[in-house]
Amino acid sequence: MKGIILAGGAGSRLYPLTQVASKQLQPVFDKPMVYYPLSTLIEGGVREFCLISTPHDLPRFRQLFGDGTRWGISIDYREQAQPQGIAQAFRIADSFIGSDSVTLILGDNIFYGGDSFFRAFSEFTTGATIFGYHVHDPERYGVVEFDAAGRAISIEEKPKQPKSNYAVPGLYLYDNDVVAIAKALKPSARGELEITDVNLEYLRRGTLHVQRLGRGFAWLDAGTSSSLHDASAYVQTIEKRQGIKVGCPEEAAFRRGFLSLDQLHSLTASLPNCEYRDYLAAVVSEGRRLGGVA
Ligand code: TTP
Repeated sequence: MKGIILAGGAGSRLYPLTQVASKQLQPVFDKPMVYYPLSTLIEGGVREFCLISTPHDLPRFRQLFGDGTRWGISIDYREQAQPQGIAQAFRIADSFIGSDSVTLILGDNIFYGGDSFFRAFSEFTTGATIFGYHVHDPERYGVVEFDAAGRAISIEEKPKQPKSNYAVPGLYLYDNDVVAIAKALKPSARGELEITDVNLEYLRRGTLHVQRLGRGFAWLDAGTSSSLHDASAYVQTIEKRQGIKVGCPEEAAFRRGFLSLDQLHSLTASLPNCEYRDYLAAVVSEGRRLGGVA
């Protein structure tokens, strides 16, 4: 399965921060925001990525990640000239997707906890898999309604009167039909190619699977100054308490087997002296103690 990280948009709610760096490059505690969604997809077993951003910000992402080789992954880059909707990503990344299935994650979505995604990725075969997460303010999102048997029966984009509290987070898994579906979409009243319209098409076809994320799962989006601060505080709390890092792509790549212990060791040695390096060095030592297994 290929992976798209959508990291464009205006980031207007984070002004003036976003005058100097795009939203997805802002720090969430100890690392750039985009590290978190990238790690989520690596943990899901994705190895080939396409990062989409604005013409202005794309060079910064290239600088940050390069071609991904040092992390045992590959990263292509594509421009989104105007933020014309999340579903536009499948048109932009058409040649990258080829004949594969594809997952898309938003560059400002942070997930933590449980093995729901891991299972969703490993069990995915056809159709679409999206998620439902209980929130207090569903009207800000795509909202999914379930019947008594737990089947999804409707999805509405930013409804004034939501039919449930289940919002659809920014992580979606699709079979290859998504490319044709995205190409056939018409812009919505707000002028965007809506991801909700893609999901509705899968719902019409009877191939949409909506998995509810349980209480032990955290989904944070960091689009406002206050939610950005909350996300940093959350990550700091977990990391301090558990002594593990959230959203560490190098560690995720090692645990998925994309990097050997020796490769992780050399990568760690190339980093400047910092707490991040100390953490990876501890992962290497633990790996050695366990005989090279993640
Ligand atoms: P939003 O938070 O809806 O928009 P934004 O990032 O432009 O921020 P603001 O409302 O403050 O101006 O977008 C959600 C995510 O999707 C975010 O990571 C940006 C990304 N996105 C794109 O990359 N391209 C698009 O066309 C759209 C609509 C969103």
